[in-house]
Amino acid sequence: MRDGPLLHMKSRDNFNQHLLHPWANLPALGKDDSTPQICRAEGVYLYDNNDHQLLDGPGGMWCMQVGYGRQEIADAVSAQIMELGYASTFSVFHPRETELAQKIASVTPGDLNRIFFTTGGSTAVDAALRLCQLANNIKGKPHRKHILCRHKGYHGSTYLAASVSGKERDKSAMDTDTENVHFLSAPDLSQSGQNRTEEDFCDFLIEELESTIASIGADNVMCFIAEPVMGSGGVIVPPADYNRRCWETVKSHGIIYIADEVVTGFGRLGHWFASEAIFDVRPDIITFAKGVTSGYVPLGGFAVSDTVMAEISLDNADGYIFPTGYTWSANPVSCAAGLAVWDIIVNEQLLEHVREVAPYFQDKLQGLLELPLVKNVRGLGLMAAIELEAPDAVTGNTLLDRDYALGELVDHYCYQFGLIVRPLINVCVLSPPLIITLEQIDELVSKLKAGIEAAHNSLSR
Ligand SMILES: Cc1ncc(COP(=O)(O)O)c(C=O)c1O
Repeated sequence: MRDGPLLHMKSRDNFNQHLLHPWANLPALGKDDSTPQICRAEGVYLYDNNDHQLLDGPGGMWCMQVGYGRQEIADAVSAQIMELGYASTFSVFHPRETELAQKIASVTPGDLNRIFFTTGGSTAVDAALRLCQLANNIKGKPHRKHILCRHKGYHGSTYLAASVSGKERDKSAMDTDTENVHFLSAPDLSQSGQNRTEEDFCDFLIEELESTIASIGADNVMCFIAEPVMGSGGVIVPPADYNRRCWETVKSHGIIYIADEVVTGFGRLGHWFASEAIFDVRPDIITFAKGVTSGYVPLGGFAVSDTVMAEISLDNADGYIFPTGYTWSANPVSCAAGLAVWDIIVNEQLLEHVREVAPYFQDKLQGLLELPLVKNVRGLGLMAAIELEAPDAVTGNTLLDRDYALGELVDHYCYQFGLIVRPLINVCVLSPPLIITLEQIDELVSKLKAGIEAAHNSLSR
């Protein structure tokens, strides 16, 4: 049943009066007349309250893998609700979590065979970091608490996950743990501020990692956490060999390596996980979320190695429990959705599909570099970023105001042309559903081009 215009107006009133959204613009709270109201979706398209069709450029929030409106997922979820709608994994286990855990363990690198399910990405990161803390306490090294992470990294919104996230704007207003957290440079050659080659820059980053470990004392460092390709930080593809060299350095000091694959996992880069398949890295822990259920229902988790667990279990853990968990840890309905998504990815050969269409996607996007407002185009797999440069003509006093204004302008025109881009300040990030076809890639790029051109024309008027 479709809602009529009156209900849509009522809905916006209620939105303004009763909702607080993530990253809400507080000075405009309750006065919003521009956030789109999305009412339905199918395949790679969303439809707003005017039934305006929008190609979903960001793929929800980096999470829409198999496309909207999948009957298989609806059937699996509905059957699971009728069979077993909830089970507390604090005290029982159930078949859906064991099936999904076994499948995930079968595609993780090395001996990452044990899965802890959470409710999303932030809780996956939080629980993984707390497992590392517990491990050091059990091993009699409670001083080993320091965490290495990177500027521009994003790992989530719980206190600890936010503490290891390095996006300046997000950190400035809320408190975070600063005592045990150390930020390394983002592996972003374009922002490195010097005329370096990629190799030189990579050497610099590894030297910085080494010297940071030395200054803290290797025996005080708990773990290193990194996204293989930074997502929310602006799709930063690191220099070749950077991930592998970081991993080798970290492991040479006996430090735990956590790969945050909340975005890069479940096919975004053409593999179940990118760490080993693309970057030749075998982490101790991999976090995942988003794509595991293709965004349909909340689920996340981490896979941890048998090696790490052997040190903190059985005779090595006398008197200890793992004191972490959530009411919805391994919720059966979420796991059923995860299994349905898994089957779609396998049956429709979506990993192979991504590897096939990604070069075309990246290549077509490079064509946007010729447009006046486009400063940089970068990406890997089905992740990409178009960085816009604000000319002086854009209103706003500070550089940041101008960047926001430009991002909003491009967003506004793309929306009119039928494309959601939702820029992060001045960077349009793209991570379309994995099912996207070559024709739909053409459509996405031509709508984005039209949106950027219209924004540019509006500035020169
Ligand atoms: C790399 C990464 N880790 C963790 C998170 C947090 O995930 P969630 O929003 O599901 O809590 C995100 C979210 O965008 C992410 O990009």
